[in-house]
Amino acid sequence: MKMTDQEFDRILRFLKSRYGIDMANKKEIVSGRLENSVRLAGYQSYTEYMNDVERDVTGRRERELVNLLSTNHTFFMREFEHFDFLRKEVLPWLRQKEAARKDLCIWCGAASTGQEPYMTAMLLMDFFGLEHSAWDTKVLATDISTDALRQAVAGVYTREQIEALPETWKRRFLRPRPGGETFEIAKEVRDQVLFRQFNLMDPFPFKRKMHVIFLRNVMIYFDHETRRQLMRKVYDVMEPGGYLFIGRTETLDRGILPLQMIQPSIFRRNL
Ligand SMILES: C[S@@+](CC[C@H](N)C(=O)[O-])C[C@H]1O[C@@H](n2cnc3c(N)ncnc32)[C@H](O)[C@@H]1O
Repeated sequence: MKMTDQEFDRILRFLKSRYGIDMANKKEIVSGRLENSVRLAGYQSYTEYMNDVERDVTGRRERELVNLLSTNHTFFMREFEHFDFLRKEVLPWLRQKEAARKDLCIWCGAASTGQEPYMTAMLLMDFFGLEHSAWDTKVLATDISTDALRQAVAGVYTREQIEALPETWKRRFLRPRPGGETFEIAKEVRDQVLFRQFNLMDPFPFKRKMHVIFLRNVMIYFDHETRRQLMRKVYDVMEPGGYLFIGRTETLDRGILPLQMIQPSIFRRNL
C-alpha cells in the first residue's frame, strides 16, 4: 500500500504533536512498520486509517499506532557504567542522606520492555543486602508503548536476552520456566517495580521529587525544542543533589539548566 507524501506528513504531525517523536525523513520506516497492520485491519489507504486513529475516542487505534511506531530496542546491561556509578557514587550518598526516611524515588521514564528498571531493582537489592527490607526503593517505570509495558510486566526473557547478566544475579533474580529456554524475573524483584503508561509530553504528576531519573535513549527521537521543554520539567522534579542519566550517545543542551555534568551522560542537580 503506497503512502503519499501528504499521508506521511499527517502521521508525522500526529506523532510529533502527541508524543514528541520526530520521524521526518523516515518514510520508509514508517510505512514499513504500519503497512501490514493497516492492510490487515481492512483499510484501503493511510488516509482512511488516520481518520479512524483521530476519530477513535477509545484511544485503541492510537495506542496501536504508537506501539507500531515507537522503537523499543533495549537490553540488559546496556550502558552498565551507569549502574556502576549508581552503586559506587549515588547509592552510598542516598543511604546516608535518606537514613531516617529510608525511602528512595527512582524513575525510569522510557522503560520499554523492562530490562532497565529490573536491573535497577536488582542493583538496589544487591546494594542494600539484608538492610533492603527496611527501605522503600520501588522503581517507577513508565513508557508510552503498551506492548512494551505488557512484556515488561510479564518479566519473561529468553536465555539470549539474559545472557549478559552477572551469574550471581541470574541465580538470585531469575527463575527458569518450563522448557528451560525462557526465564522469569523473580517475584521479589518484580514487586520492586511499578509499571505505568506515561507520555513524557504530558505534565509530570509526581508528588515527590526524584533522587534518580533514567531518561536513556529516548531523547534521540525528539527535536531540540521538545528536548528543551522536557528537560525543564525533568529539572523541576529532581531532588537537589539528584541524578539524571541519559543515553551515552545523547547530549543535553548545556547552559539551559543549572545541572552539573558529572560525566557526559550523567548529570546532577545542584545540592
Ligand atoms: C530505545 S527505547 C530505550 C529504552 C531504555 N531506556 C534503554 O536505554 O535501553 C525508547 C523508549 O522510549 C519510549 N518513548 C518514546 N517516546 C516517548 C514518550 N513521549 N513518552 C514516553 N516514552 C516514550 C518508547 O516507547 C521506547 O520504549
